[in-house]
Amino acid sequence: MTQRAYNFAAGPATLPETVLEQVQREMMALPGPKASILEISHRSPTFKEIIEAAEKNIRTLLGISDDYSVLFLQGGGRLLFSMIPMNLLTESQPSADYILTGSWGKAAIKEAKKLGSMNVAWDGADDKYTYTPSDTDLKLDPNAAYVHYTCNETIEGVQFAAEPQAGQVPLVCDASSDFMHKPLPIDRYGMIYACAQKNMGPAGVSIVVVRKNLLERSSDELGSYLDFKLHADQGSLMNTAPTFAIYVVRLVTDWLLNDIGGLDKMYSINQAKAKMLYDTIDSSNGFYDGHARKDSRSLMNVSFRLPSEELTTQFIDQADAADLTALAGHRSVGGVRASIYNAMPVAGVEALRDFMIDFRDKHAK
Ligand SMILES: Cc1ncc(COP(=O)(O)O)c(C=O)c1O
Repeated sequence: MTQRAYNFAAGPATLPETVLEQVQREMMALPGPKASILEISHRSPTFKEIIEAAEKNIRTLLGISDDYSVLFLQGGGRLLFSMIPMNLLTESQPSADYILTGSWGKAAIKEAKKLGSMNVAWDGADDKYTYTPSDTDLKLDPNAAYVHYTCNETIEGVQFAAEPQAGQVPLVCDASSDFMHKPLPIDRYGMIYACAQKNMGPAGVSIVVVRKNLLERSSDELGSYLDFKLHADQGSLMNTAPTFAIYVVRLVTDWLLNDIGGLDKMYSINQAKAKMLYDTIDSSNGFYDGHARKDSRSLMNVSFRLPSEELTTQFIDQADAADLTALAGHRSVGGVRASIYNAMPVAGVEALRDFMIDFRDKHAK
């Protein structure tokens, strides 16, 4: 078998090895149906058990009450950028607030603007999206249908330390790149959503946690697949669900519960992993230059630059040769980005830290 590298990709991203091993063991046949997860009906008792277990795990991990629905949808984060305004804007509240802390917030408002006049409550563009705003910086509209923000900007590596204050207006959060990295006060959210392919599983499914009273806003005029309420009423089985992706989400959430021991533990591990890399940046005498301001640093995506393009290329190539892969920063930010999601082992981050120290020792003037 090919030796696995430490894969620092931003998404699809590394998965827990024990999950991959279980997928491998069960790929030919699941015990009940004696057929592969790829071959069984989304309406079979076996898949019903899988999707219910995935939902139960998510509810347990985040302490989600019955006031909320948990949905498994296709179309990724991008489709949700459109579905959210389609479902949550109303005739009396035709506009929403968007807090822009990076590229994904910008992508979300671009879609929303096709459906109404959105209000930019804050935009960090002038400072190249290096930090998150404080509550007093936000220009919120009290009549907004919702306040949308991106709790972790995957490209810039900028993360909110806590939820912004939105008053009585429902808070809607794109948590695609840090969902389940720590416990959350779910009651603060009207809706929180995440595509799976970073912290939760493979590409092909998104998880949506939505307060049930918001589902009343969905209009019957919407196309069926675009309607949150219909998905909730039909247990996310309106059409053929992405069965394999949901099966892996179930295994990843089993891993979070049973192997890791819950989100408090996961959070401590994530803090320790991120600290290793940020300490290395901070003690490099400026050789490594972190993109995010210190108080807004992401625990999931560590973005930094080197003194030149040439050194950046050398760093990425040599790291790759040492089986530390997919470290190139997004083209819009440049430099290096190490995505260290839940499933990145501590040993992988230690290996990257050691590589960074060694590389700096060789190349710093
Ligand atoms: C924060 C965030 N939101 C949304 C998306 C888009 O997700 P998808 O590619 O599933 O549409 C991504 C993907 O990288 C992301 O990082």
